[in-house]
Amino acid sequence: MSDGPTYGFDTLQIHAGARPDPATGARQTPIYQTTAYVFRDADHAAALFNLQEVGYIYSRLTNPTVSVLQERIATLEGGVGAVCCSSGHAAQIMALFPLMAPGRNVVVSTRLYGGTVTQMSQTIKRFGWSAKFVDTDDLGAVEAAIDADTRAIFCESIANPGGYISDIRALADIADKAGVPLIVDNTSATPYLCRPIELGATLVVHSTTKYLTGNGTVTGGCVVDSGKFDWSASDKFPSLSAPEPAYHGLKFHETFGPLAYMFHGIAVGLRDLGMTMNPQAAHYTLMGTETLSLRMQRHVENAEKIANWLENDPRIEYVTYAGLESSPYYERGRKVCPKGAGALFTFAVKGGYDACVKLVNALEIFSHVANLGDTRSLIIHSASTTHRQLTPAQQEAAGAGPGVVRVSIGIEDVNDLIADLDQALNKATA
Ligand SMILES: Cc1ncc(COP(=O)(O)O)c(C=O)c1O
Repeated sequence: MSDGPTYGFDTLQIHAGARPDPATGARQTPIYQTTAYVFRDADHAAALFNLQEVGYIYSRLTNPTVSVLQERIATLEGGVGAVCCSSGHAAQIMALFPLMAPGRNVVVSTRLYGGTVTQMSQTIKRFGWSAKFVDTDDLGAVEAAIDADTRAIFCESIANPGGYISDIRALADIADKAGVPLIVDNTSATPYLCRPIELGATLVVHSTTKYLTGNGTVTGGCVVDSGKFDWSASDKFPSLSAPEPAYHGLKFHETFGPLAYMFHGIAVGLRDLGMTMNPQAAHYTLMGTETLSLRMQRHVENAEKIANWLENDPRIEYVTYAGLESSPYYERGRKVCPKGAGALFTFAVKGGYDACVKLVNALEIFSHVANLGDTRSLIIHSASTTHRQLTPAQQEAAGAGPGVVRVSIGIEDVNDLIADLDQALNKATA
């Protein structure tokens, strides 16, 4: 695809990053199932290792199939580049890696996927990093949490599991004022529903495991850089602005300008952390991105109908879907996700914990799995699974209390989904 006209999302999701294979003319992007690439000669090898020439060395760093996916996701998000990783969790570590150092902290939303809460509250401490959890709806608390050691703010666009919407523009303004990047996990919204970079985010992370792949086949992650942050504006980000000792003193920002963060992610991050996406996974995700907009439209359409139906059902206490006019996040959702509030939300069943467990057991079309963003409808009781490691207070803050179930609404016939919920709710509340 040429760099000529600005194409629409539906065109870019199929074509961005891809071109007929130069060796064979293959129209579909081949799976380059290779570990290494033959150098033309010793000078070529040296130029590649010195980052003086861009090319392929070894698939822990770069691979042609993965590169197509990187360019495609970067384009869909409106970024300058992206680095794909082995999972969404890997992408979160990779996103923080160039920014953090022992003693530094990240200000993090309390409304996050439970695994991320544990990663941020426990695991990153092993690196000497820490996280300060705040209710990101309280902008004063976000500002107050930022200190001289803060190196980023982190939130989810549509938070898992409650489907709550973050005020990305307001958080970006706070991040700008503090001179730190805002990182937005856009997994649950996808770039079709939400454009964090246009709203002021510096970096976007994804679990490509979810909607971007869309069919529950492979795990993967991605970090997208807007290319807009001035890493040299302060001395906060020496890995990018000062000589990087892990790459023979190269000054990434001075050398690569807006592509500095991305080059660092590959040349240092993937090289030394090795959280690489494999070409098979990239292939499945490329296949998924081709239908992203169509799937997201149907996901949203079904989620809206089901959330409305549940809200009016006497067996239900409440529904958290931001696409419902009754939701406190409805107005914000229309601004942050103008094409719909996604397809992920929770609902509380009358009868609490026991009724939730019975509901999950009685469903026939919905699958009881620890995943979201599949074409299939999925359900889980977050408090006893994905958010199990959290304290009761953390569970409540994340919207994953014991009395609610989380659904990821698929793209099946919505009448079949409603009938399935109806029969299972009968059993759960009998
Ligand atoms: C919003 C969100 N971010 C990140 C992750 C982690 O992604 P992965 O499972 O691909 O590591 C998940 C997983 O459920 C998630 O829901």
